[in-house]
Amino acid sequence: MAPFLRILGIETSCDETAAAVVERDAKGVPTVRSDVVLSQLEEHSAYGGVVPEIAARAHVEALDTLIDEALKRANVSLSDIDAIAATSGPGLIGGLLVGLMTGKAIAKASGKPLYAVNHLEGHALTARLTDGLSFPYLMLLVSGGHTQLILVKGVGDYERWGTTIDDALGEAFDKTAKLLSLPYPGGPAVERAAKSGNPQRFKFPRPLVGEAKLNFSFSGLKTAVRQAATEIAPLTDQDVADICASFQDAVSRTLKDRIGRGLERFKALYPDVEQPVLVVAGGVAANLAVRGTLQALCDKNRFRFVAPPLHLCTDNAVMIAWAGLERMAEGVQPDDLDVQPRSRWPLDSSAETLLGFGKRGAKA
Ligand code: KG4
Ligand code: ZN
Repeated sequence: MAPFLRILGIETSCDETAAAVVERDAKGVPTVRSDVVLSQLEEHSAYGGVVPEIAARAHVEALDTLIDEALKRANVSLSDIDAIAATSGPGLIGGLLVGLMTGKAIAKASGKPLYAVNHLEGHALTARLTDGLSFPYLMLLVSGGHTQLILVKGVGDYERWGTTIDDALGEAFDKTAKLLSLPYPGGPAVERAAKSGNPQRFKFPRPLVGEAKLNFSFSGLKTAVRQAATEIAPLTDQDVADICASFQDAVSRTLKDRIGRGLERFKALYPDVEQPVLVVAGGVAANLAVRGTLQALCDKNRFRFVAPPLHLCTDNAVMIAWAGLERMAEGVQPDDLDVQPRSRWPLDSSAETLLGFGKRGAKA
């Protein structure tokens, strides 16, 4: 049995600077002692996407204060911490450098071990903290940077069943919003507009539907939105609402097909798992149409649908601390202090590299 453990987590892989203190008792029961997140939304909104240089600078400015705040709110000092866990990939390299360097400096100064955590592992293990899930389960990560269906078999044991071959789903929402002159981040704006729209007005493509492989593709959908918007310009509010509703409908149908196949594959692989589980994570999990689709799919296939609270679905340091705790409790050795950040770092090293792993940015 692992002893009581307490970890300081640091997250800086994209546009959230975050620090947290999380504990795990001998029975594996977690306690979140503090959870501090500073979003850079305002810094990036004028550009319609995350600007890596701005992100890195903002992390430098905020991180030390945020770590102090996390320790203070947890009512602990560095000497009460057993280890430091910092995200070391995948993500924007400037931000990763800031977080990992800070983690290393604290580890060196305090003599505590350092865990260099894969951001995706943080998302993958969160549902064990929030819902006490046991292995194996399926996890769908739908954020601004990633769209992946992952089989979570154990700590450090993952199979990537599907990923996007071009844009991430959140990115597709953001680009659609930009095309329609809706504000950034696009997801909430598209969802809002879609409420008064007609989902049947435009027949947008449902990329990769019917394919046996479980990958995703969203760039064709974005192109179809652009074409439709250009053809009927100038757009009325109703046109924008109809495009958004039709876009969301195409997304839901695509997810239904892709994830539906994933659930069937899971059941075939694990016929003895009595209550199979699908977990969702990432900012797009906030979308009610997407949630409704996943819930209905789970009901139909007798899966339990688990959606952790949104602040733990989106980027945060609690999940990084927790991933560190899970590794430490399993007796995994800490990382050397010369560990390097990695902008690309698939959870499943046997998975083929696909071009679009969700390279989020303000470029498009
Ligand atoms: O996980 P997240 O907060 O951050 C990173 O990706 O780093 O995800 C942000 C993404 C953005 O692309 C945003 O547009 C999308 O999640 N998003 C949504 C909604 N809320 C946020 N997409 C669709 N519907 C929403 N309600
Ligand atoms: Zn994330």
